[in-house]
Amino acid sequence: MTSLLNRMKDASGIGYTLNADIDDDELSAEGFELFYRVLQEAVTNVIRHSGATHVKVSLHKEEDRLVMRIRDNGAASSIDAIEEGFGLQVMKSRLSERGGKLSLAIAHPSGLEIQAFIPCTGQDKKEPEQEKEDCYAETGSH
Ligand SMILES: Nc1ncnc2c1ncn2[C@@H]1O[C@H](COP(=O)(O)OP(=O)(O)OP(=O)(O)O)[C@@H](O)[C@H]1O
Ligand SMILES: [Mg+2]
Repeated sequence: MTSLLNRMKDASGIGYTLNADIDDDELSAEGFELFYRVLQEAVTNVIRHSGATHVKVSLHKEEDRLVMRIRDNGAASSIDAIEEGFGLQVMKSRLSERGGKLSLAIAHPSGLEIQAFIPCTGQDKKEPEQEKEDCYAETGSH
């Protein structure tokens, strides 16, 4: 994720902060890939549409879900003005396939804030008794 954000910075001059508050074993390779793709599209959108100078990315755990928040300080000032294209639709459908979701909001004073949620226990988990702490944790090596 850092290398993706560094590429953004080098290519566009947009600065970033990344705050990751989850342990490696809480995010499986699959969960990571999901978040990574959301971040990739969000960064592309920030560069193409926002006029932002800074992006804040955070990853944290919230009860039974993992949350990635991406907030830019660009020009977006109304959610109603955002017409969903292919990029946002793909993000949404990828997340909902995994029992997650995407939400959009306007940051203060302006800018877009995207939040991607992934449940800690995947719908396809075979062992429901597995500890809640094990957000998407792989049983094998990681
Ligand atoms: N960070 C942002 N700041 C301001 N507007 C945004 C931002 N991200 C998205 N938008 C608005 O939302 C629209 C939809 O974004 P979406 O990614 O779905 O489509 P797109 O980027 O236009 O095309 P593509 O299908 O190639 O991704 C954009 O056209 C833009 O108007
Ligand atoms: Mg896009």
